[in-house]
This record gives sequence, structure tokens and C-alpha cells, in this order.
Amino acid sequence: MPEVDLPLNAPPPIVTGESMATILVIDDESAIRDSLEVLLTLEGYRVKMAADGYEGLRDLDLDNFDLILLDLAMPGRSGLELLPLIKERQPDIPVIMITAYGTVENVVEAIRAGAENFVQKPWDNEKLLADIRSAVVRHRVEEENQQLKRTLKQRYNFTNIVGKSETIMRVLDLVGQVAPSRSTVLIQGESGTGKELIAKAIHANSPRRDKAFVPINTGAMPSELLESTLFGHVKGAFTSAIAAKKGLFEVANGGTLFLDEIATMGMDTQAKILRVLQDRRFMHLGGIQEIQVDVRIIAATNIDLRQAVRDGHFREDLFYRLNVITVDLPPLRSRREDIPPLVQHFLDFYCNENGMPARKLSTDAMRALMDYEWPGNVRELENCIERGVVLSSGPIIGSDLLPGHITGRSFQDALLEHNPNASLFDILEDIERRIIIEKLERCNWNQTDAAEQFHIPLSTLNQKIKRLNIEIRKRGRE
Ligand SMILES: Nc1ncnc2c1ncn2[C@@H]1O[C@H](COP(=O)(O)OP(=O)(O)OP(=O)(O)O)[C@@H](O)[C@H]1O
Ligand SMILES: [Mg+2]
Repeated sequence: MPEVDLPLNAPPPIVTGESMATILVIDDESAIRDSLEVLLTLEGYRVKMAADGYEGLRDLDLDNFDLILLDLAMPGRSGLELLPLIKERQPDIPVIMITAYGTVENVVEAIRAGAENFVQKPWDNEKLLADIRSAVVRHRVEEENQQLKRTLKQRYNFTNIVGKSETIMRVLDLVGQVAPSRSTVLIQGESGTGKELIAKAIHANSPRRDKAFVPINTGAMPSELLESTLFGHVKGAFTSAIAAKKGLFEVANGGTLFLDEIATMGMDTQAKILRVLQDRRFMHLGGIQEIQVDVRIIAATNIDLRQAVRDGHFREDLFYRLNVITVDLPPLRSRREDIPPLVQHFLDFYCNENGMPARKLSTDAMRALMDYEWPGNVRELENCIERGVVLSSGPIIGSDLLPGHITGRSFQDALLEHNPNASLFDILEDIERRIIIEKLERCNWNQTDAAEQFHIPLSTLNQKIKRLNIEIRKRGRE
């Protein structure tokens, strides 16, 4: 049997989940059916043979299949006529068309009607098996993802948290348990592991869900500004306080206040926060009246708070107040089985957001993602998939569209691989397109900023965007 690469570092596709993968072959030629039956059975697949469309559809109704191999030219109902009927019954099942007469129009028509791929008779066994494996794995990952979302949605209201590792499941169980209470929660995890997402999930599953969820990055502000933002101030409390202002503790009354990057907060502010946590009371800056609030606090940190206490940067008493329930979010590199479902989730999201047809990752692109260390965790993975989707011009996103530091490839290599037979002019256009997209990404898709940084008039940038067919998007997602 030929050695075929296993995609995704996943368990062998034939035994993913409980059952062996099952393939339905629909072909009118018995010699073709026989040789496919031998090839696929030896490879470990369960196979079912159908000699025409009628038999094929009947089998499809009676059994569960992971993939269909469908002959294009058959007497009676052709493969092309059959394809929509199959997709009507099972929209997600991958179908690989087999043909000896694969004219370009047929290929295009079949792919448009939802075929996964095409093989030409006589086929290369190794390539056919590799195509089947990757389609089966992908189909199972997609199915698993949908199942997972259904389960998470049933258990809690976690529609946008994706993962299947045991660690993430434990986190979600804990989140589900603590959400209904008003206990303070401390979320710890490296940058980009999903701390804010979890904080929002806790709020969304709590009785406070209809009140405000107020996030504040406590690390990003000087102490004075932070305190006036959190506690508000009376008129004249300091020079620029020309009018009284409410603080976020009042804005979040009845809801949840999310204190992000708590470790970098100054010692004085820490003392004031401690007081609100103890008494649920505080005063406006410059005020004398105590204000009572009902706010649930969720705090997050990407550095070890216990160590910050030891180093004398964080108050021990506040640490114990915050650390009632701790949710530890593990880095992505320690739960790699979450990568395929996350990839699928972001592919769906960004194709949908950009109004693009579905995109898939090539096997070697997925392998590169599985092997990478992900210092920026899920956020870095998300950015990488978003970029791949935006740069892609066909249904498959190859590893040439991934950043070089992930694949170990240089920019030049990626460009030449992406455009193997293109003219120099076309390659230069590709460079221009990638550079403009990269700059726009960095400028949050603000064209004026990008034009300024490129030292070109905005009108020139706009012409280029139009000529290079770059889709401009609004940023920010919930
Ligand atoms: N399990 C997950 N499922 C789906 N999306 C996720 C998951 N974890 C993280 N994300 C996404 O990754 C991105 C980063 O997540 P988030 O902002 O919550 O991370 P963070 O830990 O708060 O990062 P930082 O420390 O940098 O503030 C977000 O777009 C979030 O939606
Ligand atoms: Mg965050």
C-alpha cells in the first residue's frame, strides 16, 4: 500500500471517532467499481458500490457515508445530474467526481454544484487516496465542530467558544458553574488565550446578562486617570474636572466590570479597588458621599499574580479577594487538538464576513499550523487565518499564504510558489496587493492612515485598491 501522509496530525482518518470511514462509489463500469473496491478496502475503508444514480440515492438514504466517489458520465442519470440531488439530501458530504472525459466545463460545473474535487481515469492511486483522506478528515472535523457547537450551546450559551481539548472542556465546565453566582473570578492566561472571551461568556450566562458588561484595561492608563475613570469625580476634584462624571463602577451597576491586565495597576488604585470589593461602596474622587453598587468583578492577568505578590508589586489582600475562583487558560501549544476546530471556526467566520465562498486549508498549511508554537495563542491563529482568507484567490489556502515565520519560508519563496508560471508583472502585482493588505491590516483598515504612512495621496491608494481588487472591510468584531 502506498504511504500516504496523514493530514492534521490527527488520528488516522479511517478511525477518527468511533467508526471506520465509509465511502459510496457510484459508477456504471463494473471494472472501475471492482478496482476501487479493492483499493479502498485494503486501505481500511468500508465501501458500498452502486451501479447507477438510482441505487446510489437509495444507498445514501439507508446508510451514513463520509464521502462519495461519483462517475461523471453514466447512462441514464449522469453524475452531474445526480450531484444536486445528493447535495439536497446531504449538503456537507464531500463528493469526488471521477471522469475520463473531464472537459473544463464539466469540471467547473461540478465544482460549482458543490463537488469537492476531480479525478481523471486512469487515476494515480496514491493521489486519489491522499485526496480521499484529506476530504474525509475535513468532513469529520466540520461535523465534529457543528456537533461541538450544538453541545456547548445546549450546555451553556457558549456559541462562539470553540475547542475540544480536555483542558478547554474543563474550563468551560468551570465557567458554567461559576457564571450564575456573583463570585469574583480571576482569569489567568497568556496573551491571546481568550480571557476576555471567557469573561464575556461568564457574564452572558449569569443573571446579570441584561445589564452592562464593562471592560477596562487597567494596565493601559496612568493611576489618576484610571481612578477617575473607575470611580468618577465631582466637579472641581482636579484641574480638568470641569463637570461631575460617573465612574465605571456606577455604569456597571447590576452588571459586570471586567478589569483587564490587573497586574500592572498601581498600589494606590489597588487599595481602592480592595475597598469596593470588601464593602461594595466607594466615593467619587473629591467627593464625600459613599455610593453603594452591585457589581460583579472579573479580573484578568497575563502574568503570574502570585509571583507579582512575592515581588511586592501586587497587594496580597487584593490577590486573595480576587482569587476566589481562578480560571486558568492554557496556551494553545499545550492543547493542539483545538487548532483544527479553531481553524474551521475562523475560516467560516472570515469567509462569511467577506462574503466569500468557503475556503479550506491545504494539508501542508494545516500541518504547519499544527507544528507552530503560537506565542500569540488563539489571537495569532485568528489573524493568520483572516490573512489567508483575504489573500486567497481560490478555494484552497496553501501554506504559501501563511506568514513565513510559521512555515519557515521566505517571502520570495512564498511568492514564487504561489505564482509558479506567472509573469514578472503579475508577481509584482501580487507583492503590491499583499503589502497594501498588510498595511491596511496594521492601520485597522483606515485608508487615510495607510496612505499617509505610504507617503502617497489617498486617491492613489484608492485606485490601487480598486485595480488590485482588494476588499475593504470594517474592523472590530464581537
Ligand atoms: N476558544 C476560542 N474559541 C473561539 N475564539 C477564540 C477562542 N479563544 C480566543 N478566541 C478569539 O481569539 C481572540 C483573542 O481572545 P481574547 O481577546 O479573549 O484574548 P485575551 O486572553 O484577552 O488576550 P490579551 O491578553 O492579549 O488581552 C479573540 O478574537 C477571541 O474571540
Ligand atoms: Mg484581553
